[in-house]
Amino acid sequence: MSILVTGGAGYIGSCAVAALKEKGYEVVVVDNLSKGHKQAVGDVKLYIGSVGDETFMHKVFTENKIDAVMHFAAFSLVGESMLHPYEYYNNNVAQSMHLFHSMIEHGVKNVVFSSTAATYGEPEENPISEETPQHPINTYGQTKLAIEDMLKWFGVAYGLNSMSLRYFNVAGAHPSGNIGEDHNPETHLIPIILQVALGKREKLSVFGNDYPTKDGTCIRDYIHVMDLAQAHILAMEYMLKNNCSDEFNLGSGGGYSNLEILNAARKVTGCEIPSVFEDRRPGDPPVLVATSEKAERILGWHRQYGIEDIIASAFAWHKAHPNGYDE
Ligand code: UFG
Repeated sequence: MSILVTGGAGYIGSCAVAALKEKGYEVVVVDNLSKGHKQAVGDVKLYIGSVGDETFMHKVFTENKIDAVMHFAAFSLVGESMLHPYEYYNNNVAQSMHLFHSMIEHGVKNVVFSSTAATYGEPEENPISEETPQHPINTYGQTKLAIEDMLKWFGVAYGLNSMSLRYFNVAGAHPSGNIGEDHNPETHLIPIILQVALGKREKLSVFGNDYPTKDGTCIRDYIHVMDLAQAHILAMEYMLKNNCSDEFNLGSGGGYSNLEILNAARKVTGCEIPSVFEDRRPGDPPVLVATSEKAERILGWHRQYGIEDIIASAFAWHKAHPNGYDE
């Protein structure tokens, strides 16, 4: 069975490619390499181009018999999305629309879609379930919700099956230590902490210590990228078997404050990791924790990794690749 992975040269996409290969699937990657890294794809067939270019995608779909698509290709930085909404709507919503149109034209009717906790905005309840109302508070989350909605209507009209997977905070690296997070600029907490541990940054700035949480810092729900990759495979297999659509939260069911993450990283790395408190970062909700009970119950998804595994695997990747893929 052959799976097309869009954004397969990116952080999460490349880990999904590795997991698919390990499970015996044939994989084809489409990536425009605007953010992704060719080296992350490994020995898989890579088409360099845009998922929204229907002429290009016609070539991909005619040269390969694709059974399902995992759609990761997107811009995903909240702050950037607030400055560049046109780019976000264009790259995320418009390109996805053309991709889905190409799929339908070529009779490919199954897609696993990379959605986000950012579709919930500042939720009215924690933990967040799939029934929690989705009210994004930034352009990024809004574009992902627009795509979820588009998939529903494309399902009704064209019979396109979709699994929308709403990820919480993804971190960690492939167990080989050779596939991991390489963003430029880096904005995420765990890689930044590890850059401090490795002496690549002087200190961690903790954004806000006056939130209504146990230690005043924000609480997030962390999920290992390889557990996330497994969830994609289970969702795809479920969709293909049952010819259906659905949506799932993917988190751990528990949260860690930013200070707890910092202390866990100090323990795992054995490094001091200096830190200072700074003002709140605009747009950060105090608490985002998922219940993933639905994915466990319906997909049979079981997480293998806890927070120390997440940090340890990310640390192994960063130590082996201090300059990311550009070594
Ligand atoms: N943080 C710091 N210092 C830093 C970086 C982050 O204190 O240098 C804090 C943030 O303020 C936040 C927490 O660490 O409280 C986590 O921040 P991240 O940037 O690592 O992750 P976010 O929770 O902001 O974002 C994640 C995904 C987004 C998704 C969002 C959903 O990365 O793609 O969850 O709200 F949109």
